Amino acid sequence: MHPAAAKIVLLVVAATAAAACSFSPPAAATAGATHALEDSGARCLPHERDALLAFKQGITIDDDGFLASWRRGQEEEEDCCRWRGVTCSNRTDHVVKLDLSDSGLEGQISPSLIYLEQLEYLDLSWNGFNGSIPAFMGCFKNLRYLNLSYLSFTGEVPHQLGNLSNLRQLDLACFYMSHSDMHATNLSWLAHLHFLDYLDMTYINLSMAVDWPSIINSIPSLESLHLSGCSLPGTSQSMTQLNLTRLVELDVSLNDFGNPLGKSNALEFFGSMDQTIRYLDLSGTSILSGGVPPHLGNLSNLRHLGLGSMHNTMYATDILWLTHLQQLEYLHMFRVNLSTITDWSLLVNMIPSLKVLELIECSLESANQSLAHLNLTKLEELDLSLNYFGHPIASCWFWKVKGIKYLSLIGTYLDGPFPDVVGEMTSLQELHFDANNNLATMTVDLKNLCELEFLSLSGSLSNGNITEFIDKLPKCSSSSLTCLGLDYNNMTGVLPDMVEHLSSLEILMLSNNSISGTISAGILKLTKLQALFLALNRLNGQIPLLPKNLRTLDIAMNNFSGHLPVEFGAPHLEVIILSSNHITGHVPRSIFKLQKLSFLDLSNNSFYGELPRMPNLLSCLLLSNNRFSGKFPSWLKSFSKLVFLDLSWNNLDGTLPIWIGDLAGLTILQLDHNMFYGDIPVTITNLIQLQLLNLASNNLSGPTPQFLSNIIGMTTKAPKREWNEFSESLTDVLSVVMKHQELKYHPDGISDMVVIDLSLNHLTGEIPNEITSLDGLVSLNLSWNHLSGKIPKNIGAMKSLESLDLSRNNISGEMPAGLSDLTFLSSLDMSYNNLVGRIPRGSQLDTLYDHDPFMYDGNSGLCGPPLQRNCSGNNVPWHDSQKRSVKDLEPKIFFYFGIVSGFVVGLWVVFCAILFKRSWRVAYFRKFDKLYDKAYVFVVVTWARFASQATTN
Ligand SMILES: *[C@@H]1O[C@H](CO)[C@@H](O)[C@H](O)[C@H]1NC(C)=O
Ligand SMILES: *[C@@H]1O[C@H](CO)[C@@H](O)[C@H](O)[C@H]1NC(C)=O
Ligand SMILES: *[C@@H]1O[C@H](CO)[C@@H](O)[C@H](O)[C@H]1NC(C)=O
Ligand SMILES: *[C@@H]1O[C@H](CO)[C@@H](O)[C@H](O)[C@H]1NC(C)=O
Ligand SMILES: *[C@@H]1O[C@H](CO)[C@@H](O)[C@H](O)[C@H]1NC(C)=O
Repeated sequence: MHPAAAKIVLLVVAATAAAACSFSPPAAATAGATHALEDSGARCLPHERDALLAFKQGITIDDDGFLASWRRGQEEEEDCCRWRGVTCSNRTDHVVKLDLSDSGLEGQISPSLIYLEQLEYLDLSWNGFNGSIPAFMGCFKNLRYLNLSYLSFTGEVPHQLGNLSNLRQLDLACFYMSHSDMHATNLSWLAHLHFLDYLDMTYINLSMAVDWPSIINSIPSLESLHLSGCSLPGTSQSMTQLNLTRLVELDVSLNDFGNPLGKSNALEFFGSMDQTIRYLDLSGTSILSGGVPPHLGNLSNLRHLGLGSMHNTMYATDILWLTHLQQLEYLHMFRVNLSTITDWSLLVNMIPSLKVLELIECSLESANQSLAHLNLTKLEELDLSLNYFGHPIASCWFWKVKGIKYLSLIGTYLDGPFPDVVGEMTSLQELHFDANNNLATMTVDLKNLCELEFLSLSGSLSNGNITEFIDKLPKCSSSSLTCLGLDYNNMTGVLPDMVEHLSSLEILMLSNNSISGTISAGILKLTKLQALFLALNRLNGQIPLLPKNLRTLDIAMNNFSGHLPVEFGAPHLEVIILSSNHITGHVPRSIFKLQKLSFLDLSNNSFYGELPRMPNLLSCLLLSNNRFSGKFPSWLKSFSKLVFLDLSWNNLDGTLPIWIGDLAGLTILQLDHNMFYGDIPVTITNLIQLQLLNLASNNLSGPTPQFLSNIIGMTTKAPKREWNEFSESLTDVLSVVMKHQELKYHPDGISDMVVIDLSLNHLTGEIPNEITSLDGLVSLNLSWNHLSGKIPKNIGAMKSLESLDLSRNNISGEMPAGLSDLTFLSSLDMSYNNLVGRIPRGSQLDTLYDHDPFMYDGNSGLCGPPLQRNCSGNNVPWHDSQKRSVKDLEPKIFFYFGIVSGFVVGLWVVFCAILFKRSWRVAYFRKFDKLYDKAYVFVVVTWARFASQATTN
């Protein structure tokens, strides 16, 4: 049989066998293989080699060439036991170990793996596999070690893992940002893993697993338990149910149990840990409150201690207990108020073993005295983020600790020039100095910092010169600088030719500065660059050919001009944001070759011509305010991932296709200010997730679509918005951001963006009664059409309505009394219709009238207060002396939609480009994976910046 054919057979058989754990290799493949074995003398078993090759076929990206050795070829090459990452048993020739961790792989995990029936060790961690954990993982009866951590998996953890009866270690940890994506509703399968000694389910949502303490207790050999950020159910009392006597490692950080343990329970809790515990992390929980419990000093074997509270309720007035922890290597405190501790010198020589010290948001007062006398000769990592110091950075004590590798000073407001000694810290690998509010200056020559990988000074430098700064970066034989963040620094100068010493760069963030000049062709030398952020600068010229591994390009709000390059040169591009430049010409056809493109924003440029076919994984397509022409793109038909489509303010025409209703994921649809004509397809109501529908200012005619009640996205029954899933803290920050937006743009507030706008068309017929079932709708604008009939009687059911504009139609009849039930209504326009009868009263409506006395104009039959016209007697037509012209009204309409799209675009740029882009997020969070607070800091900083950007625009 032809090898390729055998492979296909294998794949098919594997797919069907996966469910049943059938290991018997397919006959055809075995026969061919025995042959190969005799011929080549290869050691590896042929069906296992085929299984590995089939696995390789499922891999779509292998940037580092990790699997390059996995191929057919001459004898030696055929031996899969010599392939990278593969280990075979000397005795049986079976593959027993597969270690592919952190090897830059992306794609699907092929079920062909189940043919590696003797596998004992499987590590696929830190790669870009997606989907959910395959159930066939439960087939490896001999597996002792399984590591599927940090793979961007989603969905339920399969109970089949309970069949792995020989398992010793199980690691399923997830990223913080996706913590709500993976879940386990029932953990009873864990009780079958009798030999398990290590379990890590960090950030897997276990909120449904109410019996978790008893299940954990039933695993007799368990020593290490990591359940950080799992939304563990129950109260802090659940912790006392855990059998802690055998645990060596316990991490339940970032679980909010609601109430603290209390004094006596805390005593019991720590007492039962006795001398065994070496690793304890209770930070970001509510287990403890008040003063740090003195029992901690009894846990004399501790190597790792994490303390802190979710609700800012912990403090420490003395730290003498620390002196008993002679083995401590890692001390982490998050939100423990240490402001009363001024004399740390008591601790001199007391914790000589400390390697990592993190005191984040601990109300430390100064970084030039406190801690200065500690004998921290072994210190490698120091994090003092989110303490407000506000004194010169040069006077800080830690510059004297020469061996430091990691230094994080985010949000400390240290200022003044960096001391020259920084240039001698040759061990330094990471320096995080973000969000210090543009106070410091950095002119130190860093050329000798050959270990430096991560340098982030965002929002912390005042008025530097980018040309000079880049010239001072490390110049070493092998450069290691991977991430450089200098955004929000108001730096000037021109972008230098990207020189050799930056050749390791993967992420370059220079957004929001005053950098001028062009991007030179030298950028091509940055062959590892994955993300380039240059938005909000003064760059000009044409967009050059891009470095070949680029995945995210954000150059919005510059002065780029000219045409796009015919080929982009970066086939893996996923995010392209070019909005608000002066780019012109056609969008090149080569865009179709960017098969991974999921976010494209070309809005506010001067593109023209027809839209070329785009790759169909797009989820956000934003093309507004250009001069695109032609029909509604027919190639959009198969775009099942489309969430956000904005074609507004272009010259598109033709009718809207019936199949628009097949784009099931569509949440935001903006087609306003084009020249579309014909009916609104009734299928549009199949878009049940729709939140924003804007078809304003086209030439659409015919009736308003029926069946509007299908659109669950516009009701209060709509599933929670995406950002609520991230975490409480993100939601908090987000609401602050939204407040900013509201204050800035819209005094009445866009609490949500659930909108229908069909204004400025030629719609006829009545307003469908069904519209009143959209009780989540915030704004409804049907003005400037030819609608007739009556206002739906039940309009009072649209409880969320804040803005209602039915003006400039032929609507007749009376205004329904229910209008006065709309308590959130802050804008109402009924002018220029044929309404008659008494105007309903209500304090809300009366106030609105006080603000806008024109809202009932042009309805000769309306009477009663607040109008002057009396209802009794003959209805003398009211002379409308203050009639507003069309011109007066236009800006208002424009203004409103300016807000909505600005708001939406802002949010989505951040969400799509920063939070959802796995590829470079992996690179970024790899550095941040250690603990929630790092991600928390990142999120706070990011959103704080976003907020300040929103208010300065
Ligand atoms: C298999 O043999 C190699 C070479 O002789 C040796 O290095 C390795 O340790 C052996 N592995 C096992 C599992 O015995
Ligand atoms: C806790 O575990 C230890 C060791 O496995 C065992 O000896 C002890 O009986 C357990 N205690 C309880 C209360 O189950
Ligand atoms: C600091 O600790 C080291 C051992 O970790 C010791 O050799 C040294 O003398 C101490 N230095 C001071 C100033 O106490
Ligand atoms: C940014 O730098 C320019 C030029 O140096 C200066 O005029 C401007 O005030 C600075 N802006 C801020 C916010 O510091
Ligand atoms: C930035 O530095 C370069 C190199 O020293 C210099 O040529 C340029 O004039 C500087 N630009 C500004 C705006 O200061």
